[in-house]
Amino acid sequence: MGGPVPHIPVLGRQAVEFLNVRDGGVYVDATFGAGGYTRAILAAADCRVIGIDRDKSAIALGADLVQTAHGRLTLIEDTFSHLDAVARAAGFDAVDGVVLDLGVSSMQLDAAERGFSFRLDGPLDMRMGGQGVSAADVVNAASERDLATIIFVLGEERHSRAVARAIVKTRSAAPIRTTRALADLVASAVRSRPTDIHPATRTFQALRIFVNDELGELVAALAAAERILKPKGRLVVVSFHSLEDRIVKSFLAGRGETRAGSRHAPERKRIAPTFRVLAKRPVTADADEVARNPRARSAKLRAAERSEAPARNDDASDLLPRLPALADVLKGR
Ligand SMILES: C[S@@+](CC[C@H](N)C(=O)[O-])C[C@H]1O[C@@H](n2cnc3c(N)ncnc32)[C@H](O)[C@@H]1O
Repeated sequence: MGGPVPHIPVLGRQAVEFLNVRDGGVYVDATFGAGGYTRAILAAADCRVIGIDRDKSAIALGADLVQTAHGRLTLIEDTFSHLDAVARAAGFDAVDGVVLDLGVSSMQLDAAERGFSFRLDGPLDMRMGGQGVSAADVVNAASERDLATIIFVLGEERHSRAVARAIVKTRSAAPIRTTRALADLVASAVRSRPTDIHPATRTFQALRIFVNDELGELVAALAAAERILKPKGRLVVVSFHSLEDRIVKSFLAGRGETRAGSRHAPERKRIAPTFRVLAKRPVTADADEVARNPRARSAKLRAAERSEAPARNDDASDLLPRLPALADVLKGR
């Protein structure tokens, strides 16, 4: 269906299998991207897909697929933290499956002007939705301490203090405005061997996750999926680094327990699990897929089936790492 697929969807076949796509079903592809997952879902059965992406260019490029899907595909520009409200607004009070394929798309990475890549020179932007605060805003305003925390926690960068120090020193001469300028200063602050990943990889990852509030979005999306999935509906999440995978794993472990409530509450009530985990260990890509698509190397798929129990409305934000608030970071220095 549709034209050529410009992006090889990581773990696409396995994701669609776990979704258990059926005729008449309604599925939310909450990270539409280049539409690889959506095409596979639409091809698997006579079903409907609601595709969501916060990137307006992804939604615009999906227009052809909407045409060829003949009423079976609705595309909405929004954040996936709102996926339950988006599904309701599209006319569905409950859905049969939700899939999330996290992170950036290759379309975003390959567009120098979006500022995601340390390999291409462009403005230091990194906003998936094009609104709000950019990576340059954070890099030029945050205190050295906040920068080090963000880069350590979200980039898991051991040399975060050295990187933060180098950023503050460089920007005292002139603001840091380009991906090349940031990549170069990180490379000079972090010693690396030629066989290592590019020294700026972790710093870029940290800033991208921070600017897009990717972990907050993920936690909210998991709770939204719990609210909108039918009994026996499937949740499938593909993640690309340990911070995301840890959140998905902990969320599903908590929702699979028979006890719940605040960890501060003296008494914990017995309540029914809302999800049943479908594979104890995360599914990973095989050697063939990794050879075709190196990005698949770090991919982990987790899947669960919704039970009949009502959604828990407790706050899942304790799954998030501790970080300075964006508003405080921008007050900076
Ligand atoms: C890895 S790509 C998805 C690729 C897609 N599965 C495919 O087969 O083409 C991730 C997409 O999710 C989108 N995205 C990331 N975070 C989002 C969020 N919080 N809300 C909505 N879309 C988001 C990105 O803009 C990007 O287009």
